[in-house]
Amino acid sequence: MRLIFIAPPGAGKGTQSALITENYHLPQLSTGNILRAEIKAGTPLGNSVAQYINVGEFVPDEIMIQFLEDQITKEKYANGFILDGFPRTLYQAISLDRLFLKYNFKLDAVLILYVQKSELIARLAARRTCLNCGASYHLEYKPPKVFNICDVCGSTLTQRKDDSEESIKTRIRNYNNLTMPIIEHYDSMNLIHRIDGVGTLDQVYGRIDKVLKYIDRNGLSQ
Ligand code: AP5
Repeated sequence: MRLIFIAPPGAGKGTQSALITENYHLPQLSTGNILRAEIKAGTPLGNSVAQYINVGEFVPDEIMIQFLEDQITKEKYANGFILDGFPRTLYQAISLDRLFLKYNFKLDAVLILYVQKSELIARLAARRTCLNCGASYHLEYKPPKVFNICDVCGSTLTQRKDDSEESIKTRIRNYNNLTMPIIEHYDSMNLIHRIDGVGTLDQVYGRIDKVLKYIDRNGLSQ
């Protein structure tokens, strides 16, 4: 399966993608996680994108499209992936269509999570992230087993730079202005599945699982 996950910041894309990966053995391709790892490693790519990511602005399309092509052609994604964080602009969506044509990939579905703004802000304010492995926690709803320590790799958890109040506002505004229009693009391809992202982690996952089982059985959109 090749899936795209679209949702505003804090809606649970990363959290739910990780559950899909665990249960369906479908690798998660999270643009945000990979770019943060590049920033941490101090690579030329990381250095060029940090100025945008830290303040919640989108990385320019031309950088992202080349980056995405480099990623989706990696061996580990040869049998499918769940794309978390791309596309975010109409230009990226059209470029992704071209990449799928070029590599003869089929897009199976686009999942959209809906969560209201007040809940997004509450979730992001209490998020703690492992900068080493990318795992994400919530102080109340998904706390680590040991306070402030990552369950997966044992590193200390931190708050992402872009989870400041100002950056959260910028990210939500960019999602509404630049990402929302791409929903229409995929609607015209009949690929969209709209999912209520409010509820416990398990409740939301249950809704997603139902959709994935449907796609698996029918090989098409609802
Ligand atoms: P990215 O890392 O993708 O950030 P984002 O889109 O802002 O999304 P988040 O990671 O903040 O939220 P999420 O939906 O994954 O929520 P999570 O599961 O963590 O991208 C970062 C930056 O990279 C961008 O701002 C941009 O600068 C750049 N970038 C990346 N791709 C790009 C592109 N294509 N073009 C241009 N720039 C790009 O959940 C949030 C919190 O809520 C967690 O604490 C979690 O535990 C909790 N939670 C989750 N579900 C629930 C629930 N049901 N109930 C209660 N709490 C919950």
